[in-house]
Amino acid sequence: MSVEVEIVEDPARACAAMLVGAAANGGHVVLTGGSTPRAAYGEFVRAAVAVDLDLHRTSFWFGDERCVAPEDERSNFRLARESLLEPLGDGETPAVHRMRGELGPQEGADDYEHQLLQAGSPAFDLLLLGMGPDGHVASLFPDQDTLSERERLVVGVPHAGLEPWVARISLTLTAIASARRVAFLISGAGKADAVHAAFGPQAQPSPHVPASLVAGVASEVTVLLDPAAAEQL
Ligand code: 6PG
Repeated sequence: MSVEVEIVEDPARACAAMLVGAAANGGHVVLTGGSTPRAAYGEFVRAAVAVDLDLHRTSFWFGDERCVAPEDERSNFRLARESLLEPLGDGETPAVHRMRGELGPQEGADDYEHQLLQAGSPAFDLLLLGMGPDGHVASLFPDQDTLSERERLVVGVPHAGLEPWVARISLTLTAIASARRVAFLISGAGKADAVHAAFGPQAQPSPHVPASLVAGVASEVTVLLDPAAAEQL
């Protein structure tokens, strides 16, 4: 496994380039939630439209979802719909596999596990992750039992470890590790401590810092940071 840390002025643009590369080959791409990816999704749309990218063989999946309705402002699907899917327009639309947060954590996780198994448990070509200031990835929060799940690809998370304080659905580390390439998209000084703990020179895999566990199981990890997030590396 390899972990490559890239400190760039515009991580969104760097992430968008990786999205274009994965999507252009009809890849399976896992989108992340939170607020950081909005700019990256916008950059991806601009690049995809500019080159008239053919996305009809591309599949978008989700790394996690909040257990709310898809039109709820906290929904990660709503973020992707507004910033990526709808702006792509009516051209060659990709397949979109939504996590059905409205079903609740356990039923929603079972549903998504079924969607993945029905699709043949695809090897994700690119899996995007953000990271919380507590080092959580997807909805795998520090010291929760979900971190030790090795059989399932998707788990329900009854209690979020950070706002929004709603139940979640999340890919497991097993699903994340199956990706050919994982890309972290992290920006802002508020993440600098967690970046140091997860990717710094003395970092060790620990359930206290879920992001550090990804570095230990995924085959190829790229960490895209802006200077503020990297200030303690
Ligand atoms: C979520 C995300 C989560 C996110 C981090 C960072 O559902 O909240 O998937 O893992 O990536 O919390 O979020 P920000 O980009 O908003 O800092």
